[in-house]
Amino acid sequence: MSVTIKSAHEIGLMREAGRILAKVHENLAKEIRPGMSTLDIDKLGEELIRSYGCTPSFKNYCGYPASVCVSVNEEVVHGIPKADRILKEGDIVSLDAGLICKGYHSDAARTVGVGEISEEAQLLIDRTRMSFFEGMKKATAGNHLHDISNNIAAYAEKFGYGVVRELVGHGIGKQLHEEPEIPNFRKLSRGIKLRAGMTLAVEPMINAGTHEVLWLDDDWTVITEDLSLSAHYENTILITEGKPELLTLTESEIAAGYMDLY
Ligand code: MF3
Ligand code: CO
Repeated sequence: MSVTIKSAHEIGLMREAGRILAKVHENLAKEIRPGMSTLDIDKLGEELIRSYGCTPSFKNYCGYPASVCVSVNEEVVHGIPKADRILKEGDIVSLDAGLICKGYHSDAARTVGVGEISEEAQLLIDRTRMSFFEGMKKATAGNHLHDISNNIAAYAEKFGYGVVRELVGHGIGKQLHEEPEIPNFRKLSRGIKLRAGMTLAVEPMINAGTHEVLWLDDDWTVITEDLSLSAHYENTILITEGKPELLTLTESEIAAGYMDLY
């Protein structure tokens, strides 16, 4: 399947899917505290998604057993929620969730601190988010896909961080994963030309140390090779002739002025 351009009707449905997922993230982030298990987070996430009449898209996707990927500290993505994995003060936790609303997908991730976290951890979270917004500066019809990738990487690498290469963003719509693949690292090729009506999930995964990652024996959890911290920030976006529309931005992010970051 090639890259799809969404119709006005489909864009309306993508907006709805995005808005609901933003609410799920807003609510989830508020609940994170020391002493809760990663499975508690997944249960809460699934309940929230279903409370809006939507379906969690990750559950059973290629055998993934949960609705929310919960990845702690050196875990990059796809951590499997567990009853005996208890969050403690100072941890950072990446929450990645996706849902299907009226046949259309949204996908978004945030990394949040558990209680008080180190300055180093907070900087990694903030700069990972900023790398996404640096990418957004190029996410306009007429530009090329890898302009986004190069902007993300150039920003993150300024701090000596490792930009994960094994996992990438993706087109999104009727399917969770559509074309194109969206790298977060530098590319020499320009990539496809961006067109209004494309919907994309852009998701930088940034490590405090090396960019190299490993897979745990559960076949899902990705960790940093040097066990350094990792953060993730993902939104589902709509390409337009002007600034991209960020479909999964939360109310508090909008209130904080994130629309002006790109
Ligand atoms: N945001 C991730 C992705 O695009 C999450 C997928 S996890 C899975 O691909 F469990 F659904 F595979
Ligand atoms: Co994704």
